[in-house]
Amino acid sequence: MSGGDSADALLGVYKPQGPLFVKGEGVWLVADDGRRYLDFTSGIAVTALGHGHPEIADAIERAAATGLLHTSNLYRTAPARDLAAFLADRAGMDRVFFCNSGGEAIEASLKFARRWAGTNRGSEARDFVALRGSFHGRLFGSLAVTDRPGYREPFEPLMPGANFVDPTDPRSLERALDPERVTALILEPIQGEGGVRPLGTPFLRKARELTRERGILLILDEVQCGLGRTGRFTAHEEAGIRPDILALAKPLAGGLPMGAVLVTEEVAASLSPGDHGTTFGGGPFVSTVALAVTRRLSDPDLLSDVREKGEALRGMLERLQERKGGRITEIRGRGLMWGVELSGPSAPVVEHALDEGLLLVGAGPNVVRLLPPLTVSTHELERGVSLLGEALDATVDAGA
Ligand SMILES: Cc1ncc(COP(=O)(O)O)c(C=O)c1O
Repeated sequence: MSGGDSADALLGVYKPQGPLFVKGEGVWLVADDGRRYLDFTSGIAVTALGHGHPEIADAIERAAATGLLHTSNLYRTAPARDLAAFLADRAGMDRVFFCNSGGEAIEASLKFARRWAGTNRGSEARDFVALRGSFHGRLFGSLAVTDRPGYREPFEPLMPGANFVDPTDPRSLERALDPERVTALILEPIQGEGGVRPLGTPFLRKARELTRERGILLILDEVQCGLGRTGRFTAHEEAGIRPDILALAKPLAGGLPMGAVLVTEEVAASLSPGDHGTTFGGGPFVSTVALAVTRRLSDPDLLSDVREKGEALRGMLERLQERKGGRITEIRGRGLMWGVELSGPSAPVVEHALDEGLLLVGAGPNVVRLLPPLTVSTHELERGVSLLGEALDATVDAGA
């Protein structure tokens, strides 16, 4: 077998490391040797309520007891109907399309935008503008609007018509948003894989203002930063803007695969039966679980707790930065989504942290990302930051 561990039949497109996990308990994962690991990845922003949350277990049991795992979208089910109504209401949007992942949510968003443009803007405006540092997924459309040459180039040609602008240069955004050519601007309110970079309220408002003036759609990719992660139900809420299309996924069903695209009535009006579809999207089982998860993630008490703990975490990271001299060059984030930019590579630090019992994930070559479950305690945050400090020390010693 090539491209992976010869004892393993899994395709070698991942590099899974270390322990074999057998159990999850809150913010902790337990390996087959009984060792416990503090999970500051949440499975890359997925398990927002932690592992083994009783409300998720209960929803899974209830959903299983109905015997209704799947019907296809040939038929309607109550869980999908109720979840769509809840999400649309809570996010201030009008209609919802369900799919099975973040990449699929972006793919659908791009298609919906083109369909809207076909109806409202004539055939010329087909292009997309995306931002430098963006990550929107690995499918041919979502990859085309992703600014990662290493991920893109081996698979070209991708979807044509994607152009990138530098988010720190508002002039280039103004120039790129040509109403003759551009269907939509797509962006993450906080860029995740690109290094945890919040775009900030002024930028988001400017993007909304320009797109609205020019008749261009605004697609917000909140696959990673949405659904409570920033201490708001949607990350853009703080900027007081409304997108035309909003993509959600990762934490939506608490660890089961699900994505959703929320659109305005105007975008919805351009779509007809047959324009898009998926066999599994919005199945009754996953929708029942997602309704329980999103109800909890929209709880005002949980959200204000995330904002408070986020500020506490910011303080802990700033103190760590003071103690570690020039090792930490910048700390960025919101809520419980933080990037710690290092003077050197992040991979050795992530590796050492794993040895010490802390799960972290990189975001680009020199940023360590912290994405603990939103249910993390202050004590667990302190423990995680202390282990991160130890990993920084260990990598200095290793000459990283
Ligand atoms: C902002 C953003 N969009 C889209 C995706 C793609 O999601 P998925 O991996 O579920 O296809 C990701 C995944 O990391 C993401 O962070």
